[in-house]
Amino acid sequence: MHFTRKVTQDLTWVGADDRRLACFEGVYGVPDGVSYNSYLLQDEKTVLFDTVDKAVYQIFFENLSSALAGRKLDYLVISHMEPDHAYTIEALLTRYPEVTIVCNSKIQAMLGQFFDLDFTGKLQLVKEGDVFSSGKHSFTFVMAPMVHWPEVMMTYDLTDKLLFSADAFGTFGSLNGRLFADEGDFFGENLDEARRYYTNIVGKYGAQVQAVLKKAAKLELDYVCPLHGPVWRSHFGDFLEKYLLWSSYTPEEKSVCLAYASVYGHTENAANILAGKLVERGVKVRMFDTSVTPASYIVANAFRCSHLVFASTTYNAGIFVTMENLIHDLVNHNLQNRAVVLMENGSWAPTSGKLMREALSSLKGVRFLNDTVTIKSALKEDQLAQLDAVADAIASELVPVQPAAAESSLSTAEPSGPLPVDDKAFRKMTYGVQVLTTCADGKDYGCIINTAVQVASGNPKKLSISVIRKNNTCDMLLKAGKFNISILTEDAPYSIFELFGLQSGREVDKFARYPGDDRLSNGIRYIPEYTNAVLACEVIETKDLGPSMLFIANVVESKVLSSGKSCSYDYYHAHIKPKKNPAPEQKEGYVCKVCGYFHEGSDLPDDFTCPLCKHGKEDFEYVAPAGKKKQKGYVCTICGYFEPCEGELPDDFTCPLCNHGKEDFEPAEQ
Ligand code: FEO
Repeated sequence: MHFTRKVTQDLTWVGADDRRLACFEGVYGVPDGVSYNSYLLQDEKTVLFDTVDKAVYQIFFENLSSALAGRKLDYLVISHMEPDHAYTIEALLTRYPEVTIVCNSKIQAMLGQFFDLDFTGKLQLVKEGDVFSSGKHSFTFVMAPMVHWPEVMMTYDLTDKLLFSADAFGTFGSLNGRLFADEGDFFGENLDEARRYYTNIVGKYGAQVQAVLKKAAKLELDYVCPLHGPVWRSHFGDFLEKYLLWSSYTPEEKSVCLAYASVYGHTENAANILAGKLVERGVKVRMFDTSVTPASYIVANAFRCSHLVFASTTYNAGIFVTMENLIHDLVNHNLQNRAVVLMENGSWAPTSGKLMREALSSLKGVRFLNDTVTIKSALKEDQLAQLDAVADAIASELVPVQPAAAESSLSTAEPSGPLPVDDKAFRKMTYGVQVLTTCADGKDYGCIINTAVQVASGNPKKLSISVIRKNNTCDMLLKAGKFNISILTEDAPYSIFELFGLQSGREVDKFARYPGDDRLSNGIRYIPEYTNAVLACEVIETKDLGPSMLFIANVVESKVLSSGKSCSYDYYHAHIKPKKNPAPEQKEGYVCKVCGYFHEGSDLPDDFTCPLCKHGKEDFEYVAPAGKKKQKGYVCTICGYFEPCEGELPDDFTCPLCNHGKEDFEPAEQ
């Protein structure tokens, strides 16, 4: 029996869970299973986005057949040729021989490598930026080399603002009926497995992931559909923020990942004593026995923590096997920018510390704290001071220095007149976020506000709002004398804030997105989605506040639309507004703290107002130029790796990421 779920009106998930797989890619244990996602679009043409692993082919074909509902399959878009998504292509072609495959030239080459089939006349090749239409929906293609293989591409549905992201934004773990990330507690229950998936599957390719994230930052995203794990339709910014950290090898937290390898317990004993000393100093410790915990879990925690401690006994004149495997994995996954402490044990010739140091020294941004602690068989009393020194060194970097217990200057200082008005104090106030709508001269207007407050109870209840004078909606509200307030919920996508907050009704029809023409009895439109309540108001008083106009109004009608949690201004900034890439190309200028608009230049006139959100100079902050000069070099045309080089690349040069030779490089500047 088929099991499918709708992603959007036109798109159906037709993938499957595999809970019997012991090891993903033959190496990563998946105790919670894994999902293989495939999506079918029902448009004028039918389009399938990727297939599935052979383990779940039977239910996949049942799902596909059911979703097609008797229609033929017109197109298969392939984003990735790894067999967990591509194995079933041959069987698909047998069942749907008329299908046309949409792919890039690298995928075409891999089709020939994996299958003994004649693809002549069956392929439609696309490249970056090409547009493909299935009728109502148009798609463009984003090449994503090395996320996770060189042929990977993502597909962006321009109509539904939906990104098919291939392996990116995937997660280990079965869906268990839950298609959307917001149908459960993703950040509480699934983030650890998402981190383990990212760091182990694509962790090595941080530069390539950063390149794709830069491209994705330009896209408006209402949905993100990965090949594994749940679909994103809200709170995606929170997940994207994790990707920005992971791909730039930036620790998520100031903490210690302590991994030890011990044969008879003496190295473990030293590790335990150090852990205790760290915790006593206020340091958070995540501790692992490499003989018990598989390396993939420790790799994920090494990406999470700022400081790493490795303690290993010496074995066959080398590093103990399980620790050697972990160190090898960390080096292969290209971990960077970490502080490291090493401890070694050996009854006659301890060498594991030196070998671990040699291996980890190859990683960019790795620095070693203190000398390696050497134990001969068992830790001795006179070595405790050495562990204290290690704990002190780590704590000095991780535990904030407490201010002296002196009384606050506010309570002891003599009164010396009023303090200056600190803008930061206003950010401590809580506000909701709403869409204000009105209607004048037969035309609808709307804008985002965060100023609606109930100011009187009784009958009728009264509201106050304030609106920026330069907003078109303010002029129209003065004219109309009535308005509606739609209270937005936390699952509202950024596109709503862009539409009503960053664009002018003079230039765009803000209501084209809502063909339903939803109005209250006052004839004014309201926002029917991502809204938990709507109130109709009649203005009884106005006051000109200079840059803003204050309206006081009677509430004459209201209704509850959903049980969704109201979105606060703080929540919008923390979870909905896209985060800035931590490593942007930075020019000198001023950035609007409200909407992110960037004004280039060293000066900002006093009367400057943001052309997007109309906020004034006081809401801009100065951004210094990065002062980075472009570097000459060569870029790998296979995986995108950039090798800085002023002259010619050596003839025997090979790409450190994908191992392709000099012939696959071309000159570039970055
Ligand atoms: Fe899910 Fe790279 O395959």
